[in-house]
Amino acid sequence: MENLTDVAKEIEKCTLCDLCIKRNNAVPGEGNERARIVIIGEAPGKNEDIQGRPFIGMSGKFLSKSLESLGINRSMIFITNAVKCRPPNNRKPKKEEIITCRPYLIRQLSIIQPNLILALGTSAASSLGIEFKHLSEIKSRFIDITLDGRQFKCLVTFHPSFPMRFPSARRAFLDDLSMAFNSYKNLST
Ligand code: URA
Repeated sequence: MENLTDVAKEIEKCTLCDLCIKRNNAVPGEGNERARIVIIGEAPGKNEDIQGRPFIGMSGKFLSKSLESLGINRSMIFITNAVKCRPPNNRKPKKEEIITCRPYLIRQLSIIQPNLILALGTSAASSLGIEFKHLSEIKSRFIDITLDGRQFKCLVTFHPSFPMRFPSARRAFLDDLSMAFNSYKNLST
């Protein structure tokens, strides 16, 4: 049976879309293979591309601080992105890029089999096949999804860059994070 390292090795040499051309490093994701919660972001930014690690730039620091304020350490979870390579100038990933990268995400989720997927923002929600016009239609609700015949529970919230820029959204973001983590107190370590 494959493990997360097998998937990461494939991601690191992936050439399935043009995002591979300018990348310094693909960013497969990192964290606990036995995590009960997987967090999915959008795509690597500049710092992530340089270091090959997810959420280590400004919005990553904001996310880590928000999690720590709730007593959650990043080592307890697995964090990845909808798209594993940095889009030029930090543009939003295109629909086709999300679709091309999706099998990697599904393989990671099938290995970990988390109790809950926390999707940060619209790209993450799209990568899970959730349909919506506005984030407000799907935000803060537990949604059942099926990926490759497997059932998962998912909660969608803002991408951390939004509450980072707009302090008025911070309470709502923290409420969603605590809703996610309160629903699964027995995180593996
Ligand atoms: N934003 C994301 O969505 N993912 C990262 O890894 C960094 C910033």
